[in-house]
Amino acid sequence: MEKAIYPGSFDPITKGHLDIISRTSAIVDHLIVAVLKNPRKQTVFTIEERLEMLRRSTARYPNVEIDFFSGLLIDYVKKNNINIIIKGLRAISDFEFEFQMALVNRKLNPAVETLFMVTNSKYSYLSSSIVKEIASFGGEIKDLVPPEVYDLIIQKFRCA
Ligand code: PNS
Repeated sequence: MEKAIYPGSFDPITKGHLDIISRTSAIVDHLIVAVLKNPRKQTVFTIEERLEMLRRSTARYPNVEIDFFSGLLIDYVKKNNINIIIKGLRAISDFEFEFQMALVNRKLNPAVETLFMVTNSKYSYLSSSIVKEIASFGGEIKDLVPPEVYDLIIQKFRCA
């Protein structure tokens, strides 16, 4: 059984993330989308909000599970018998860091493979930071985030 993990900050989930989740869920048996819980990293959305947004956005995929982890990704991977780490690539600039991470994770556990999913070109410009930047200035983010989380994101920036 192919059990994969798609780790990230998801602060917040974008349509680009969802596209990777959708395409990966079609080729593995089980996909865990795991949010990094790192008190040292400042995020706009709390861990509960990020998990809730992921749950709402992925409800239609029966083989997708939402979870969080802290510490090393490879420790979570081992504990949960995961054999594939999924990373999304939008541009060559993503590759250098992700390549290093893949080699570090292989050094820590050679039994686990990192697979790179190439972005859908229509989302290659998209990131959580771009969504936050546009939303913080009251710009339209409807085309950038899953419809299930649009209101939650708008509300957050209205209250800020
Ligand atoms: O969405 P992001 O912020 O680019 O996700 C980065 C993430 C969470 C995938 C990465 O920072 C991570 O795996 N962190 C956990 C710590 C770890 O295992 N680091 C790699 C070895 S140094």
